[in-house]
Order: sequence, then structure tokens, then C-alpha cells
Amino acid sequence: MSLKSLFPTQIWTTQLPAAKASQLNSQLSKEAYAFRELDRAGKQWSKSNYDAGYTSYGTITDLPYRSPSFAGLKKVIDGEVKKYLKALRIAPPSGKIEMSTCWVNIMGRHCHHSFHLHPLSVISGTYYVQVPKGAGSFKIEDPRLGLFMGRPCQDNPFWSFQPKPGALLLFESWLRHEVPANQSDQDRISVSFNYDWVR
Ligand code: NI
Repeated sequence: MSLKSLFPTQIWTTQLPAAKASQLNSQLSKEAYAFRELDRAGKQWSKSNYDAGYTSYGTITDLPYRSPSFAGLKKVIDGEVKKYLKALRIAPPSGKIEMSTCWVNIMGRHCHHSFHLHPLSVISGTYYVQVPKGAGSFKIEDPRLGLFMGRPCQDNPFWSFQPKPGALLLFESWLRHEVPANQSDQDRISVSFNYDWVR
């Protein structure tokens, strides 16, 4: 008898040391609001596409090149992505995998982001700046869900990550995920990003 587990879905999580996270996050949250203040087009974009929140996803996606705080965060993420790629045994035959986009999200009460994936990227992820109580999790769907057909499904086909400030989550960009609604009156602030294969 032999039972094998094949083709696992591998997620990378790490937690910044509390002192480092607290210093970095206080700066990042100030800057998140400053970007929101300045980003008129982004606020307009968010009004149509990101109910009860602000995201720079449609307008400012090069934050590490605009702010030393975001550049410092990128350095941390770059190091973790390198380790994650090694664990996944992903090595492009030519070129390299680099951060292509990095944007900030401020989610007010009831703001949510329904199931989606990040087409054309290799690795995606989120760093958590401010996570008030009740701000919700990060929910991942079993990638086999669309193939189950008549299989009686007893396991929960979703997995939720409950982030704390200073948490970093990395996943492969093809993995469907969602951010359930923020149930808190306080904002949930996060920084999201994609890494692409640059040939
Ligand atoms: Ni996403």
C-alpha cells in the first residue's frame, strides 16, 4: 500500500520582526495616505473599481522607485521571493524574475476584492501594513475546484490566511484568491506586487 501526495500548492509566509515591522509600517501607512491624497486619478479609478477603498493599482505601480520606505520593503520582498523560487524549483531558462508592479491598498469598511488571479506574472503577494481586528483574511481557492465534477467534496476547498501587521505572503500568480470584506471601521492597509519573468 502506498499513498502519495502529488502536485502540492506551495504558499510562502513570513513575519518581519516586531520592531522592524512597527517602524516600517508607521512610515508606510503615512505614505499610503499621502499617495492617496495626491493620486486624483487613482481615487477616481477606485471609485469605479474598488468600492469603499483606495488602491493605486490602476495609477501608481512603481512605489519602490518613488519612496525609500517602499524601496526598503522591496529589498525584503526580493530576498523572500528568491528563497520561495528556490523552494518551488522555478528558474527561468533565460532572463530573470523581477518585481514588475507594486501598489498600495487602503480598504475601508466593507471594501473587498473578489476572486481573481494575476495573469502574466509568476509570483504575486501582499505585505500587511495595518490589519485591524475584523479586517478579514486572505482566502485561497483549491486550484482543483473547477475539476472536481461529481466528487463528493468533504474538505474545505478554501484556505484562509489571517495576517498580522508585518506579515508577508507570497503565492504563484495563477492561484485564485480573494480578500473578504473589511468588517472593521479602521482601514486595512497592504502593499501588493507582482514578479514577472523578464526575458
Ligand atoms: Ni490579488
